[in-house]
Parts: sequence; C-alpha cells; structure tokens
Amino acid sequence: MDYLIKPGGSLHNEVQAPGDKSISHRAVMLASIANGASEVSGLLLGEDVRATMAAFGQMGVQIDGPDENNILVVHGVGKDGLSAPLQFLDMGNSGTGMRLLAGLLCGQRFASTLTGDESLSRRPMQRIVTPLQSMGAVITAGENGTPPLQIAPSTLQGIHYELPMASAQVKSAVLLAGLYAEGQTTVTEPAPTRDHTERMLTALGYPVERAEHAVAVDGGHELQGASINVPGDISSAAFFLVGASIAADSSITLRNVGVNPTRTGVIEILRLMGASIELEHQRFFGGEPIADIVVNTARLIGIEIPPELVPLAIDEFPAIAVAAACAEGVTTLTGAEELRVKESDRISAIANGLKAIGVDAVEAPDGLTIHGGTIAGGMVDSCGDHRIAMAFAMAALAAEQELTIKNCDNVATSFPDFHLLAQNTGLRLSVIA
Ligand code: S3P
Repeated sequence: MDYLIKPGGSLHNEVQAPGDKSISHRAVMLASIANGASEVSGLLLGEDVRATMAAFGQMGVQIDGPDENNILVVHGVGKDGLSAPLQFLDMGNSGTGMRLLAGLLCGQRFASTLTGDESLSRRPMQRIVTPLQSMGAVITAGENGTPPLQIAPSTLQGIHYELPMASAQVKSAVLLAGLYAEGQTTVTEPAPTRDHTERMLTALGYPVERAEHAVAVDGGHELQGASINVPGDISSAAFFLVGASIAADSSITLRNVGVNPTRTGVIEILRLMGASIELEHQRFFGGEPIADIVVNTARLIGIEIPPELVPLAIDEFPAIAVAAACAEGVTTLTGAEELRVKESDRISAIANGLKAIGVDAVEAPDGLTIHGGTIAGGMVDSCGDHRIAMAFAMAALAAEQELTIKNCDNVATSFPDFHLLAQNTGLRLSVIA
C-alpha cells in the first residue's frame, strides 16, 4: 500500500491520537499476570499490540472486547498462571513486544520461542539476552544475536544491571524478569528513558523503588487487577505537531495526549526550533500525565539538537527531520546511533527520504545534518517503517509537487486510522492499494 499526497494545504480540527503503544503493551502484559480482571480503556488496537494480545491468548489469558466505549477486559491469571503456548509466539513487527515478553517468559515454568517478521528478525536481541542470562535465564538468540529467541525454564537471581545504552525496552525486560527472581533486581540507566513499566507496576500494586537513575524491584510480590487508562500516544501526535507547524495557516488541537516527561523531547525540540505548541488542561489519567496540545503554524529555524533530549524523543526523529527540512538553516542530530536499530535504519531511511524529495541531508554514524530549504516532491521509500511513512506524508504540506510514499502497510502497527485522521485534518492524502 502506498500513499499519494498532493502538495500544500493546511491542518485544522481536533485530533484524538490513538492509544499509546508503549503503555498498551505494558497494559496487556501486566494485566495478564495480575490477579483478577483489569478494565483497560483507550488501548491501541494496532498490529503490534494485537500481537502481544495474541501471545497472551496462546498462554491462556482471556481478553474480552473492546466494547462500544473501547474498553477491554483482561482476565488476569496471576503471576504464575500462564500456560505453555503450543506454538511459537509471533511478535510481528514489534521490538517492544518481543523484548518485554522475553523478560517475562524467562520467569515461567515452561519453554517458549519468540519469532517476528522480517524487520524484527534483523533487530538486536543480545542486549536483553546478556542481562537475562546473568540472572540465570536460559535464553538464546539466533546467529548474530537476532530472533528467534528460545527460552527454557530456570531459576532467576536478582542482579544489579547497568544499562550500556539508554533503552526502556532493555530496562523493562530485566525488571519483568526481576518480578520472578530471588532477591532484588536493580537497573541503572545512563540517561532517563520512558518509565511506563515502573508506573504501571506501581498502579497494579507491585512495589517499585525509584531513585534518580535507578529502579529496583524485589521478586515474589503479586500484581492486582485494576482499571487502566491508556492516554493518546505522543509519538503518533508528533506527526500532527510537525504537520501543523510546517503547513501554512494551520491550527490543530490534539486531545488527551500523554505528556510523561520521559516522552516529551519532541515538544522541547520543536519549541527550540520556534514551533508554537501549547499544553492545555494538564491532568493525571491512570498514573500518567496528559494534556491537550494546541499547535499553530510557525516559522522554524535549524538547531543543534541537545543530546540530552535524544532519548526523550527517540521515536520522533523521522517527524523532527521533516520539520528540519522546512526550517531556515541547518539542523544537526548527534548521539542518536540507536536510530540505526529501529524498525528500519532510521538514519539512512530519513537521509535517503529527504534526498529523494530534494532536501540536502548528510548521514553520520550517530545522526544527521539537514539543510532546511525547499521540499520539491517525489517518491520516498518508507523501508516498511511506520514512522518514516507518516513523517514523510506530512512533508507534502510544505512541498512544491506531489509526494508518493511507498510501502505504508506497517502504519497499521501503531496508527491504524492514520490516513482517515490525516484526511480529516486537511492532508490531501489518498491510499493506493
Ligand atoms: C519503547 C522503547 C524505545 C522506543 C520503542 C518503544 C518501549 O526503544 O524506541 O518504540 O516501549 O519501551 P528502546 O528501548 O530500544 O530505546
């Protein structure tokens, strides 16, 4: 499936961003191993989270719904209540699904195998295998440290693990194994990363100790089912933050977006570039801060992106790159080598995409330099990466000619109705089957 987008236009209206993908995975996983039922509202029903739901279905967890209010009921089976899956657990395109579930499965009394699609099968898993093995887990990756992951039952010991990279997925995999370990499991991180696992464990009654750069859990406690509210995904809202900033005469409001400070780097970066972004009605919703975000067209300028903001905006660089392409002057990104191991090599995918539409972009091992100017139009290969597809779709708003984005099927992993919301706000997008 491709997108064809006519150039120009402006963005208006209100947008309800889909449920947060990171929080949705954690909601399904933690509610499944809680005692009793959890009502989950706002869950993202994209392909990635559906893969996680299917995996727990294979392990005996019943999930009902969604009902007409988009509420699902996860019938938790307790920490030791999962049953052995009869087949491989296919996590599709989802790195979060695979890495978090691997940590949890290391604590089970049965064997399991995790597989994924072509993109996931290329992604590094040694980063979780190493700490999990040091806890005593029997887990192996394929050759080159990539999926499939094979896990056999074992007894786990708590460890103190210093993360070699800022990764919430690795942190969470170790913590989830820590729920099943003897003694304490502590993870320290080089820079703050999203803390949804910590927040949701707390919300389900599991004790979590937190310090500035460290988090610890003791094994042996239980989780209790609860009501879980999933806020809108700031990573999905990001395309509209950029679209409304670069399109002439635009003004949109994004309702109920999660604004957890470990996720709001995109707002800070766009504001440094001159964007007009206001947070309204800030409030708490299910243990997470949320807000309505109002964005108006602005004149953007190129900046050096502060490295400390990189982990806080790690999924938003495809969108930020499109903003940089429309900005006056040069934008440089450094310290972002993790982008090379996302759903695609995002440094290459962004640089090639920008060059294909007439923007000067230069790759570095750990980032990019983008010379803002005119977007000509042309054809972009999304490389099967949902965020590359959606970010470049927004570039059409500031382009001189139409844009074609190839290979957009994986938008359904995180934002199934993207084309409808985009059309509804004013993007001149058609879907070509
Ligand atoms: C995620 C963590 C990040 C992010 C991913 C979701 C999570 O990955 O890029 O989309 O839900 O924990 P890393 O942990 O690899 O940085």
